[in-house]
Amino acid sequence: MNKYSPIGVFDSGVGGSSIWKEIHQLLPNENTIYLADSKNAPYGNKTQQHITELSLKNTQELINRGCKIVVVACNTATTNAISVLREKFSIPIIGIEPAIKPAALQTKHKSIGILATKGTLSSDLFHKTAGAFAKDISVIEIVGEGLVPLIENGELDSQEMTSLLKKYTAPMIAENIDYLVLGCSHYPYLIPRLKKMLPQHVTIIDSGQAVARQTKNILQQENVLNDSKKTPKLQFFTNTSVNTLQYLLQSYSEKTTIQTLDF
Ligand code: DGL
Repeated sequence: MNKYSPIGVFDSGVGGSSIWKEIHQLLPNENTIYLADSKNAPYGNKTQQHITELSLKNTQELINRGCKIVVVACNTATTNAISVLREKFSIPIIGIEPAIKPAALQTKHKSIGILATKGTLSSDLFHKTAGAFAKDISVIEIVGEGLVPLIENGELDSQEMTSLLKKYTAPMIAENIDYLVLGCSHYPYLIPRLKKMLPQHVTIIDSGQAVARQTKNILQQENVLNDSKKTPKLQFFTNTSVNTLQYLLQSYSEKTTIQTLDF
């Protein structure tokens, strides 16, 4: 493993590609390998033990492929399994958590919304962060039940998506939130639809840029930033059909490869 080794990224499915885009934008020289464990999506309703087993399997696959760092581009896997991953593997592991701290610090209405999976909202790590930063404000926690399977199917504009989003944003609008935290890496793909439904004063935030910055910081610290000017190898693997990844990554189609792999 050296500075030319790839950055590994995994998610329960296609959603973490929203995080990959931020990483690639900040670190365009880096080789990357992305694993979409869509066969096992959604992770959000699984037990902590099951989420941990799947996260160990994905991380091992990325390490077997020579990755120098692993980004867990899944809030559910991070909040449930990151400490086990860090105990088991010696390479740096970066996680993603809902951006509750910046929302709590900036809200003027003292009311924020968070949309995430059941697995994330029920995790100890989430409660710890919410307890530390959001104890004096009102936090409307909504489980985005059903959203991940629709995104996995590429149904971003379906009637079902619209009615689920209306249902989930209604209690937040009623509580006059001014920040909406997206606590699932699939959800940034819903931002254009959410913007149409929410009042204009609501700011939507996710953690993609923060994760990319943290990845760069750690690579710098470890002295393994890739300074080569060679065209990077950008590989995507999914254990189901390539269709939705192809759709979400269409503007990168000339530089990426997307393949099915059994992992
Ligand atoms: N992208 C995952 C996350 O950030 C999706 C969770 C799921 O598979 O339910 O939480």
